[in-house]
Amino acid sequence: MNPRRLLYAIAVIVTLAAGLQTARPTQMNATPPYKDPKLGLEQRIADLLGRMTLDEKIGQMCQSSSFPHPFSDQVKGEIRKGRWGSFLNAGEPRDRAEAQRIALSESRLGIPLIFGRDVIHGYRTIFPIPLGQAASWDPDLIRQAARIAGREASGAGIHWTFAPMIDIARDPRWGRIAEGLGEDPYLTATLGAAMVRGFQGESLSAPDSIAACAKHYVGYGAAEGGRDYNTTWIPENLLRNVYLRPFRAARDAGAATFMSAFNDLNGVPTSGNAFTLRQVLRKEWKFDGFVVSDWDSVIEMVPHGYAADLKDAALKGVQAGVDMEMSSNSYAVNLKSLVEAGRIAPTLIDDAVRNILRVKFRMGLFDRSATAPAGSTSAPTPDALATARKLAAESIVLLKNEGRVLPLAKSIGRIAVIGPLADSPVDQMGTWVLDGRAEDVRTPLAALRHALGEAQVLWAQGLKNSRDTARDGFAAASEAARKSDAVLLFLGEEQILSGEAHSRAFLSLPGAQAQLVEEVAKTGKPAVAVILAGRPLTFQEVTAKVQAVLYAWHPGTMGGPAIADVLFGDAIPSGKLTATFPRTVGQVPIYYAHMNTGRPPSPNELGIPMGNPVDPRGYTSKYLDVDYTPEYPFGFGLSYTKFEYSNMRLSAARLPLGGSLTASADIANSGGMEGDEIVQCYVRDLVGSITRPVRELKAFRRIHLKPGEKRTVEFRLSTDDLAFYKDGGELVAEPGMFHIWIAPDSASGLKGEFEVVR
Ligand code: NOJ
Repeated sequence: MNPRRLLYAIAVIVTLAAGLQTARPTQMNATPPYKDPKLGLEQRIADLLGRMTLDEKIGQMCQSSSFPHPFSDQVKGEIRKGRWGSFLNAGEPRDRAEAQRIALSESRLGIPLIFGRDVIHGYRTIFPIPLGQAASWDPDLIRQAARIAGREASGAGIHWTFAPMIDIARDPRWGRIAEGLGEDPYLTATLGAAMVRGFQGESLSAPDSIAACAKHYVGYGAAEGGRDYNTTWIPENLLRNVYLRPFRAARDAGAATFMSAFNDLNGVPTSGNAFTLRQVLRKEWKFDGFVVSDWDSVIEMVPHGYAADLKDAALKGVQAGVDMEMSSNSYAVNLKSLVEAGRIAPTLIDDAVRNILRVKFRMGLFDRSATAPAGSTSAPTPDALATARKLAAESIVLLKNEGRVLPLAKSIGRIAVIGPLADSPVDQMGTWVLDGRAEDVRTPLAALRHALGEAQVLWAQGLKNSRDTARDGFAAASEAARKSDAVLLFLGEEQILSGEAHSRAFLSLPGAQAQLVEEVAKTGKPAVAVILAGRPLTFQEVTAKVQAVLYAWHPGTMGGPAIADVLFGDAIPSGKLTATFPRTVGQVPIYYAHMNTGRPPSPNELGIPMGNPVDPRGYTSKYLDVDYTPEYPFGFGLSYTKFEYSNMRLSAARLPLGGSLTASADIANSGGMEGDEIVQCYVRDLVGSITRPVRELKAFRRIHLKPGEKRTVEFRLSTDDLAFYKDGGELVAEPGMFHIWIAPDSASGLKGEFEVVR
């Protein structure tokens, strides 16, 4: 036997012996130290770990998705034996309470289970999809929404949500762009951290807090071709500067857990990736919670071609640092023999179990009464509904408002409500809704009838759903439009057209929606398109035929009233896009923070280069057949009022490394209504030791201004804010010239410049 194997063998014998020794029932009356809440966390963990058998340790590392309702005797028996550390998306509230009672009082050591569930944008009260929430640029409101979700979910016996999803996505073909917060690392970091704080509350151990899970670690959103689960290639500096940043922020906000992803990252699947999991997450960031794999992502290392079989997959998962396996059972089946064969060091198992127990202790799961009732799912409270309405209204982005057709006067007369998404509760909730109920949803049709009275609303669906191509409903839609004073068209995508495994190769409005709009527009009535969708779409043919466009995403339970609020001016639109809208799918990936290239195009440049290839005129980085710029840039969104930016100034023209400066500008409301403006601050590092983006968001602020009011907005930036990562993880701020903008969006604004000096 080689010395390494011998060492392993000794360690295994010691571990097994320890297990045998403590497998006897613990002495009556003496409360073991790990059950004493007065002792320190690490002391409790060490005491418990010392009492656990290898089987019990492995049990903690296994998460099961099979928890049938009604709750079976087989599962009860497995819980008694400590076979599972966790269940996901499982059971009814009362089953979960019973399972926890069995784990705490009938298993040998009384280790609690942790119940995980996808509480992505709400539990019973459904808030807008995360991409919609992000358009509010309102961290505090987003935090409140997550708090409500945490309260509702914890009331039903859920301890842990698989959220926030903080994957940067720059490709709207990818169906999961709906679940994330957009294309920008700073904004995603800020809003993702707010979600973590909301779910986890003031203290993880409060009974109404749920543990957050930062997912999908990492790079998942860069799937080639926008096809879900596809390969990702992300050079280290891009990984660190863009994809990892929101995860670092989630860790700093105290996220209790991370989820390793499905994707192959630079040749190594992320659920077997020791660089991202051990080097970055554990060593550099000192994360001490636990890592759960995504569903089956450990065993998917076999089809990836990275593991030979399920045993090899389990080995690679543990070695890379995946503490808990979700759904598949390669850990349950193989870890014991891998340890006994000396192929996995017992210390690796102990490390993983320690991470899991740490979270369970921090959550207070050991110290809660076994009989704590897990209430049934109760209907949304008025407070929750009010927050959902506010967040949905703030998430709506006004893209066009020709002739100030919006807001509509409530005295408008009759309106025609047309389109497949005007009265479709399930679609309105969007992707990843396990517990939201159609009966709670207030649709736009219901809200408009409520606001104007039934008789004033003429309803014609036009198309049965967003993919419908039959034109039988067109005549009735045109008829309704003809009889009305204005037309509201509810268009977009059904719920099932975005989300996991729901990528699209086209970004156009599906079905015959564009034709429906064309038909209705022939009536000549003023028309407003309200688009409900899970991604940025391309819809110029619709924009051209209507006077106004509102982008409402999938707005959730209170989407209808929120849309009505915006249509009638009870809420003034303030949302700004957090993902670039392309002109056509052929421009994808398109995002604002791109590099400049050696041949940047000039504004409006289009068409075939003139001259010969030696003459650079026209040989620029553009398309022959479409403008290279987006349809709507990142950060864009109109208001019913008008904001004017002026008087940009900097507190210094030169900034020593380690110092900071203040950039300020005056923002005036020169329109006729009060409203909120999201003021954005961008910089460009003109020359770097690696090339830097043409603009990067560094800060933003939401301000409220009355008509005629003017306010100075200040942003303080230090050279740390200007720093970027190099390969190897070094964070550097470099001397040189910078441009800075205070801007309403990423494509315009007031510009200044400063120099960073040694
Ligand atoms: C797979 C998804 O990728 C992940 O986001 C989700 O949390 C798990 N399934 C659990 O349902």
